[in-house]
Amino acid sequence: MILAKNMAIGMFDSGLGGVSVLAKAVKMLPQESFLYYGDSAHAPYGEKDEKEIKRLSIEAAEFLIEKGIKALVVACNTATSVAIEDLRKRFSFPVIGMEPALKPAVEIGPQGKIVVMATPVTLQKEKFLRLLGKFQDQRDIIPLPCPGLAELIERGCCSGTDIENYLEDVFHTLKNDNISIIVLGCTHYVFIKKEVKKFMPGAQVLDGNFGTVKHLEEVLRENDLISDLAPDEQRIKFFTSADPAQFMPLYHQLLSRELENN
Ligand code: DGL
Repeated sequence: MILAKNMAIGMFDSGLGGVSVLAKAVKMLPQESFLYYGDSAHAPYGEKDEKEIKRLSIEAAEFLIEKGIKALVVACNTATSVAIEDLRKRFSFPVIGMEPALKPAVEIGPQGKIVVMATPVTLQKEKFLRLLGKFQDQRDIIPLPCPGLAELIERGCCSGTDIENYLEDVFHTLKNDNISIIVLGCTHYVFIKKEVKKFMPGAQVLDGNFGTVKHLEEVLRENDLISDLAPDEQRIKFFTSADPAQFMPLYHQLLSRELENN
């Protein structure tokens, strides 16, 4: 497979969550072009069995390869936890994954507890347990599985009563618990950052998107794959496994919203 600098970067997620990563990448790498595949027909991944998540991840990668990409970003913590090694073994181009931003959270300072919100699969897998093992003697870290939350967001629900009731439920036992940082360990949750902040006003809310795009840039540089196109030649194209009439407008709308807000 011949990789060329001016080919696009492929990105996929179980659905619309990875659009939050795409927005960060579009901003930080204005000379790059992107093909985004949202597997919204099969979302959420976070409560599926591993075999199925692996199969869906490989299919998503193959879909993007067919269109022509020079690197792949797995813009999904769940798919990264389960499938990143298989994807790296199978494909010879750079494959970049995600992880909850626990390291930056610990580096911020010594006060308070850190909550990591993520899908049940992400929090159960060895990848997260290893990460937790590195930092748990330095800080009090509370993994907080959020089954069903990505699904709510996938339905286009980024605010309102359903989200508020969900957050009220998961946070009520933690409210007086000296929480200083909340790590969003699922790319869907970035779209409800404001709502999370409302529930835990004293806490800082972090996501892994900046770190992922920084890492992507380093890997492109190491492989001499940084595009030399001008920023006005940047192309962004969306694909979905679900009904395009329903999901394409949502992907576009969320991308614009993130680009305006950040
Ligand atoms: N956006 C995905 C993640 O970062 C997961 C959502 C899902 O359960 O599909 O983990």
